Amino acid sequence: MRKIDIFDTTLRDGEQSAGINLNTAEKLEIARQLERFGATIIEAGFPASSPGDFEAVQRIANTVKNSTVTGLARAMKHDIDRSWEALRGAEQPHLHVFLATSPIHMEYKLQKTPDQVVEAAVEAVKYARKFFPLVQWSAEDGFRSDREFLVRIINEVIKAGATTINIPDTVGYATPHEYGDLFRYLKENVTGVEKVKLSAHCHDDLGMAVANSIAAIENGADQVEGTINGIGERAGNAALEEIAVALHIRKDFYNLETGVNLKEIKRTSQLVSQLTGVVIQPNKAVVGKNAFAHESGIHQDGYLKNRETYEIFTPELIGETTAPLALGKHSGRAAFKDRAISMGFDLSEEKLNEAFMEFKKLADRKKEITEDDLYVLFTERQIDYSDMPIYKLENVQVQYGTANVPTATVTAVVPNGVTETVASTGSGSVEAIFNTLEKLVNGKVHILDYRVTSIGKGRDALGDAVINLSFNGETFTGRDVAQDVLEASAKAYLNAINRKLIKDRVLAAETV
Ligand code: KIV
Ligand code: ZN
Repeated sequence: MRKIDIFDTTLRDGEQSAGINLNTAEKLEIARQLERFGATIIEAGFPASSPGDFEAVQRIANTVKNSTVTGLARAMKHDIDRSWEALRGAEQPHLHVFLATSPIHMEYKLQKTPDQVVEAAVEAVKYARKFFPLVQWSAEDGFRSDREFLVRIINEVIKAGATTINIPDTVGYATPHEYGDLFRYLKENVTGVEKVKLSAHCHDDLGMAVANSIAAIENGADQVEGTINGIGERAGNAALEEIAVALHIRKDFYNLETGVNLKEIKRTSQLVSQLTGVVIQPNKAVVGKNAFAHESGIHQDGYLKNRETYEIFTPELIGETTAPLALGKHSGRAAFKDRAISMGFDLSEEKLNEAFMEFKKLADRKKEITEDDLYVLFTERQIDYSDMPIYKLENVQVQYGTANVPTATVTAVVPNGVTETVASTGSGSVEAIFNTLEKLVNGKVHILDYRVTSIGKGRDALGDAVINLSFNGETFTGRDVAQDVLEASAKAYLNAINRKLIKDRVLAAETV
């Protein structure tokens, strides 16, 4: 069966989304999960863009063994050299080098003539091939490029040694018919096309990224690029979990395989959402929380008689467990540990103990602990922040009455290890907490977006808070969960501030 390679760019194109700021530990955690998910290639970052990206790409390249790890580089020696330093320890070093080819990008952004662009692309690929056995070359804004020019430049970069040719629809402008036709045209007109892999990279500005990627596959692409949950620049990238499930469920039509471990989809999606703070829309295909919810009476009736009346695949396919948890306040540590292992978590004994104590506290307060609750408990502990100088919330207390001015008092361990207590007022409980925290963190904070949702069902469900804020002019997203929404909000706020501290720490370490 024909195999389609899955190129995951959650940590590069995905991380470029507004407000997302992952630190190295979080990127590594996501990369490990992408390996379990079965990504053929993981684009771990853009090594020359920042010390933080360099460090993350290097750690991921040295850790991940079952997926090829790549990094992005502009068509310039400096970027290629930095990428080689970051990627040389990888099992199979792979570089992704790009240069824009559309008239508008060449004229205004690059300010180069088409001849100069061909020369720069060839030079970059030749130089990259001195180090890397695998070099992917991308024609940025390829879809809006002149087809004859595309053929010319691709012919040249193949001669220069490129092993994969990627034709992105950078601005999400293509329709499936047109994008598929472009791949057919390249297959028919590029010299040596049979020696390279053709790749599709689609953005979702018109909501057609997944359809366009599949149209490319139908017309000769052997690789598709995208992100988990479709995160990415502007409207995002093609959602890889949607492509993988579509090709699996419609195997009768496509007769293709991707190598994706479908059972890892749910977990990968939750991890990416939790760490990036990007909430999944409820009706999103495959991983949205309503993707398997049957609301109307007619649908429920049909579903109860035969699931397949209204369900083309089951939640179990993507690793969602619908069976009762069989874990409660009387469960022992051994059963808890088994559950963590069966959910794919590999926690140290210390972290497992911490999670177990938290679980016991939760079980006392909550009637039913769900698998989603456990995901949060385990994921929070999978990443070790213990050696980082960050804010840790100890206590938050709010005095609220309809006739009083709400007052919040917060006690937290601040980055230098000292415990501080601060209080402030606001026009509501949340504002009082945010004003207090602003005093604590000693900087200018603007709240850009703030949402609270519930994890699972019921009045005792955990509250999940996401905050997008600017701290001294830089934007960060924080997310955290607690049984009380006010506590979750305070923790999410500090989570966003901590991202700034961790980022500054990486930068400082690099300049020393
Ligand atoms: O969308 C795009 O063109 C990209 C390239 C860097 C491949 O992300
Ligand atoms: Zn892109």
